[in-house]
Amino acid sequence: MSAKPVSKVLVINDEALILRELLKGLNAAARTLDNPFGLVFIGALTARDGLQQIERDGDIQCVIVDDKLYSVQETARRAATRNGPVKEAPRTLQMTAIKLVQKITALRPELDIYILIEKEKEDQVVDNLFAEAVDGYFYREERDYRGMYRILNAQIAERARTPFYDALKSYVLAAKDAWHTPGHSSGDSLRGSPWVGEFHEFMGEHVFDADLSVSVKQLDSLMEPTGVIAEAQQMAAKAFGARRTFFATNGTSTANKVILQTEIAPGEKLLLDRNCHKSVHHGVVLSGARPIYLDSSVNTQYGVFGPVPKKTILRAIEQHPDAQLLVLTSCTYDGLCYDLKPIIDAAHARNIKVLIDEAWFSHARFHPDLRPTALECGADYVTQSAHKTLSAFSQAAFIHVNDPGFKEHLFRENFNMHTSTSPMYSMIASLDVSRKQAVMEGYKLLERTLMLAAELRKQINSTEAFRVLDLPDLLPPQVAGDGIRLDPTKITVDISACGMTVDELQQELYTRFNITIEKSTFNTITLLLTVGTTRSKCSRLYDALMRIAREKRAPRRLYRTPDLPAFTELACLPRDAYYASGELLPLLDDDDRPNAALLGRICADQIVPYPPGIPVLVPGQVINENIVDYLIRYLRVQSKVELHGVVYQGYFPSIRVLMPSEEQRLGAVVARAAVRKAA
Ligand SMILES: Cc1ncc(COP(=O)(O)O)c(C=O)c1O
Repeated sequence: MSAKPVSKVLVINDEALILRELLKGLNAAARTLDNPFGLVFIGALTARDGLQQIERDGDIQCVIVDDKLYSVQETARRAATRNGPVKEAPRTLQMTAIKLVQKITALRPELDIYILIEKEKEDQVVDNLFAEAVDGYFYREERDYRGMYRILNAQIAERARTPFYDALKSYVLAAKDAWHTPGHSSGDSLRGSPWVGEFHEFMGEHVFDADLSVSVKQLDSLMEPTGVIAEAQQMAAKAFGARRTFFATNGTSTANKVILQTEIAPGEKLLLDRNCHKSVHHGVVLSGARPIYLDSSVNTQYGVFGPVPKKTILRAIEQHPDAQLLVLTSCTYDGLCYDLKPIIDAAHARNIKVLIDEAWFSHARFHPDLRPTALECGADYVTQSAHKTLSAFSQAAFIHVNDPGFKEHLFRENFNMHTSTSPMYSMIASLDVSRKQAVMEGYKLLERTLMLAAELRKQINSTEAFRVLDLPDLLPPQVAGDGIRLDPTKITVDISACGMTVDELQQELYTRFNITIEKSTFNTITLLLTVGTTRSKCSRLYDALMRIAREKRAPRRLYRTPDLPAFTELACLPRDAYYASGELLPLLDDDDRPNAALLGRICADQIVPYPPGIPVLVPGQVINENIVDYLIRYLRVQSKVELHGVVYQGYFPSIRVLMPSEEQRLGAVVARAAVRKAA
């Protein structure tokens, strides 16, 4: 059984008598009327107290603010009482409603806000607050508490709605006969089978009942939404502060490709972090973009990729004002966030649109310690893996759009090109539900997550064998003055003093303590805390690390992952290289040495160690000795990491390169001098 919700409504009014009366009337209404969301009315006499309560109490869902708050000046009050209680004490304005609304929105944009106004000043107040996030008004003299309660209850009900999930659930519970796909027909093909019935039992009946088809018209169409999916998307847009939001069912991987294909025509320029996720590089191939790669910073001590230095980005914007789009990742896998506003402003000043890959940052909107988000900094497009940090199923992602010149038709064509005509409905429902959770209890859950993260950081450091890397440890020196922030829910831990290699530690954590971590480098592990992290999970991790630390193993030699070689040059567009037929050449020659025949050749594929999914080579890039050496060392040292794009011809790892005839056809130019090993 789920717990019953509590929804506190905070009334901020500086007149104690009026406040008491309001709370009494509203709480009486809440007790006697239907109250499914557990509405309770609480009060604050000053703006400051109100703001503190909003910050402290994650159960507050709605705020009622008096249009002007006054506070009695203490000295004046004393003077007034000394001379007898005849005169009313003078009052000073503490904070106008507009200021207070702005402060509340800055703290928790998801809250509903109502204003108490004087009847006579109605027009003026409504005009003043026109541009603010105000949901409605009540007259200060209002005594119809039951009416007020109903309005507030309805407003909370509206925010807590999940149009798509609600429709899916009622359809499933109505148990219609299916004469359509999927073939398992609500699980009937599996249920009771002596061979596969167990799968049905293990997964649970609703996994199958809710797996429906586009033939069910009541559930709208992801490809052309006009009903419950459209509504759910609108609610997500409001929650995340976007003009439009779209549900993507193949992760941020697909979301990135859709935006690149929409925004870039073949041959048009694109500025991108070279260490963007591989999906952005796939988008370069699909769109036919002419990429200008920006070198990101690298923390070589820990093998962690950081942001692109601000001055590199600003210089590229100046040098390439004809670029159509700038693509950056914020936050990075390790939680490093850009100071985005000045970068986005500079791009916009040159009419360059901005796409921010927020695959790891969809939770940020719901806690002030993590904001501003990319949308709040003015990004035109933001892609988010709701499944990475919120409660959505794997692959579920959001595409948020803020671009005033959004070309919807083009977007739709590209979106539909990448979207299956049979999307998984439970995944769409999970996006709807994770949006609801984020607006109803995201703040409360993130408060807990941030607190657990702070505690866990201290606990890990107390083991002495493990050390949490703080922002200064993680920041590559090239970006030290760039205003980079750290999302503390990603905890990167230096393991070099624990007496195990990273592989051994991961194995030990898994086999002995049932713990699986997010990712690792040769001397770090990264733990991901989310809205689903519990205190008991943190205790088990701390216990495991403490036990390992107490066993005091002798230090081990850790083999560094080779540093990513510097970018060489693009000899032709990635798309042209990718669509060439090419030939496969092995990385090693017959004497097991780096194959000299590869030097100066043009790679046709993207070669990507995964994780983290950052390419060593992109299609069209010239191969040099450093790159061949790197790939060989990588294969030897990191035997467990996938190296996407490398093809095995029998036992021989090989890569596809353009044939000389194709180089000629494409007019590819290779600076042969650049292919020798850098000194
Ligand atoms: C920065 C970044 N962008 C995009 C993606 C792809 O996201 P998804 O797994 O939702 O397709 C990842 C995945 O790890 C990522 O790290």
